[in-house]
Amino acid sequence: MPGGLLLGDEAPNFEANTTIGRIRFHDYLGDSWGILFSHPRDFTPVCTTELGRAAKLAPEFAKKNVKMIALSVDSVEDHLAWSKDINAYNGQEPTEKLPFPIIDDKNRDLAILLGMLDPAEKDEKGMPVTARVVFIFGPDKKLKLSILYPATTGRNFDEILRVITSLQLTAEKRVATPVDWKVKTLKGQIPSSPSRPKGPVSKWLSSGSFLLGALFLARTHTGRTFPYG
Ligand code: BEZ
Repeated sequence: MPGGLLLGDEAPNFEANTTIGRIRFHDYLGDSWGILFSHPRDFTPVCTTELGRAAKLAPEFAKKNVKMIALSVDSVEDHLAWSKDINAYNGQEPTEKLPFPIIDDKNRDLAILLGMLDPAEKDEKGMPVTARVVFIFGPDKKLKLSILYPATTGRNFDEILRVITSLQLTAEKRVATPVDWKVKTLKGQIPSSPSRPKGPVSKWLSSGSFLLGALFLARTHTGRTFPYG
């Protein structure tokens, strides 16, 4: 599929119709972090569970200063009607209001530009639908992370929140987060360059000295104490 975004690319400043009206993407993001996530079609079961979960987690994204926006190859009218279903699925009033807008990409202009189509899943006209893409942009509008799932595999929104925590931490401190890292694990932060272990990494990791390194680097590079644990 043509199109797509690579890490470090600036988000295109596209205009689009959405469930909250016409937007310009950069204006919508403002100075916040942003998540743009696509789903294949409205009124489909997996998509309903995903957007329902995204709606429930909206306060967590807001706490992390992340603006959310969804996209699929359906119209604003469909998105609004489907929003009622999503709210009902969440046990709430079946209104058209979700805590994030959904982009109308019925002509697939953005899906092509951003490399979001899944060639294996087609609509009734034989046209590919949108894959389950996650793009996370920093406040500088540059792509910090992308995850691409096929239409047939629903995402894990706990993982999406986890990676945002890591992205925001590593944007601020000179540390890297290891496998399965979560913010509660005290010994889970690894200093990135310039500190490199001498000898086998496995020994260095189990010694705990990397945590001291993380603390040292955090202080050295930011002048502040290391607040995570
Ligand atoms: C769904 O959301 O249920 C779905 C969408 C496209 C392909 C398969 C499942």
